[in-house]
Amino acid sequence: MPENSPSKKYSVSLQPVGRRIEVEPGTNILTAAQRTGVELVSLCGGIGACDSCKVRLVKGKLSPHTLEEQALFSADELEAGYRLACQAIPQSDVVIDIPPESLTTPQRLQVEGLEVEVPLDPAVIPVDIKLDPPSLDDLRSDTTRLKDALSAQINIIRFSRLPRFSHAVLASLSEKARSFGWEMRLALREDEVVAILPPSHPTNGSTPLLGLAVDVGTTKLAAYLVDLISGKTLAKAGAMNPQIAFGEDVVSRIAYANTHADGAQVLQARLVETLNHVLSDMCAEATQAGFTAAPEWVVDAVVVGNTAMHHIFARLPVHQLGTAPYVPAVSEPLDIPARELGLNLAPGAYVHLPPNVAGYVGADHVAMLLATNTWQRDDQTVIALDIGTNTEITLAHKGRLLSCSCASGPAFEGAHIHDGMRAAPGAVERVQIKGEQVLIHTIGNQPPVGICGSGILDAVSEMIAAGIIDPHGSIRPLHPAVRKGDGMRYNFLLAAAGDSGHGREVLVTRKDVNEIQLAKGAIRAGIEILMLEAGLAGKPEAIDEFIVAGAFGTYINLESAVRVGMFPPLPLYKFRQVGNAAGTGARQMLVSKAHRRIAEEIVARIEYIELSSHPDFISEFSHDLFFVNAREEV
Ligand code: FES
Repeated sequence: MPENSPSKKYSVSLQPVGRRIEVEPGTNILTAAQRTGVELVSLCGGIGACDSCKVRLVKGKLSPHTLEEQALFSADELEAGYRLACQAIPQSDVVIDIPPESLTTPQRLQVEGLEVEVPLDPAVIPVDIKLDPPSLDDLRSDTTRLKDALSAQINIIRFSRLPRFSHAVLASLSEKARSFGWEMRLALREDEVVAILPPSHPTNGSTPLLGLAVDVGTTKLAAYLVDLISGKTLAKAGAMNPQIAFGEDVVSRIAYANTHADGAQVLQARLVETLNHVLSDMCAEATQAGFTAAPEWVVDAVVVGNTAMHHIFARLPVHQLGTAPYVPAVSEPLDIPARELGLNLAPGAYVHLPPNVAGYVGADHVAMLLATNTWQRDDQTVIALDIGTNTEITLAHKGRLLSCSCASGPAFEGAHIHDGMRAAPGAVERVQIKGEQVLIHTIGNQPPVGICGSGILDAVSEMIAAGIIDPHGSIRPLHPAVRKGDGMRYNFLLAAAGDSGHGREVLVTRKDVNEIQLAKGAIRAGIEILMLEAGLAGKPEAIDEFIVAGAFGTYINLESAVRVGMFPPLPLYKFRQVGNAAGTGARQMLVSKAHRRIAEEIVARIEYIELSSHPDFISEFSHDLFFVNAREEV
């Protein structure tokens, strides 16, 4: 049948969401995506008047570029395959890549669940063992019986003496051996038995060996329950960090720990309590899905976080983290018995804490560098950053790894913003200004009730492009949506009271713009100082790839980030948004001892740059407070 036969259907494969659909000729990509349940943002309703439905052609043939697309995309972007989903019509089977910012928020969360496979080499291995029951002719103790059986069974390790047991594991051996009929699965960590589990059984299936990977963020936690035998993630869960009640950022948490007699214990206990809940929930979810899972079967854990979260969790002192020169108490990797930290895992399980780099660059950043392969891109120049209240940045260039941390503040979490809110239903997440019209998209298509981080970034970017914000960040009365605010200041109206979900206006204020200036100025200054240290000052074109990690980084519109000057002016195809890569790195280290060693190598290679004492930081930061597109007007 000819390729363009009217009855020929085309296959549209949508990546990385992994959906495929057959469509009739003439069906555009936006419609194809909607039909298969993939929701793209379409601010203008699909008429080619916005750019919110941007996608990239990976394979196959699409209809010629429309005038709208030619006006919107640069020659490089068109060459790289960028298209508007509402304008592009398949002319063959096609594979389409959807950038995270073109997906609505719930769809982006699905993208975050990608598995990254590494060769399995877990620190804890299963040993299925059958013991001879004691008799009048065989009066060996239960432990000697176990040691002898282990020595006979394991070729690599010969136990001349009793393998190590924690007291809790040892105390449970006699009872478990008898109740399991002298058949059991041991979880062995080097020469230590960390758990005695029920035997695998042909009818009951294999007893899983479970591991827990956690990324402890200052605001949120991400946890993963992993089968160490298959490497598969059985369940994952997110939760708010309960420490937020004691301070919204790292500095206030450290202050709380330092100024209250039991401050550090309270912060640690709240965190562990939440982790125990999250683990129970994940075990219940995995059990519902057909796996047998219980917290006491979790035999290993890897926890990453920034240095303050690491120290609080590990019950290490944090006083020195809040006082210049802000050094960690411990930067080496740690393996701590889970029970000493209050985590309800298998009685002998350990928690592995990968190494930290500095007081404000922690193991979460190391895990991100590991997961994104930034550490082995010796032939390329790569920037990898994780945006949060603190933004950690690494520049990989000619075998060097240069890292820094900058205080970007909580504006992108919606804090300190007049109508700021977290990314939840009703939050404005995308904004476009088209002439006198202000187009907004809210999470869940709910009536607007506030603005989340990606929304405020978009709003400021659009206001710059429309000339409403001047280089200093002042809002000028040059648009019908500009309203008189306090004193000489103006606000920008995103939603009128009658259109909002709470009957009040949703506004962008001058102070909001200032918060974004401080955040983006700090991040850009960090990037520029690293470029300077690498001998690449003023050469953004030298950057081969720009990796944006973390929840917020996954949600932002990259064009907006470039337009406000937070990121250097690079073509879009050089950016890669990778979601929670720290959580991915933690999972890799959970299933691979080799990856734990690589994490140590990464830390040994990193050259840490302290921005606060860098001679060029203040002038760079002052410069970066201005809006980039308006710089020449300053
Ligand atoms: Fe495609 Fe607006 S929805 S350009």
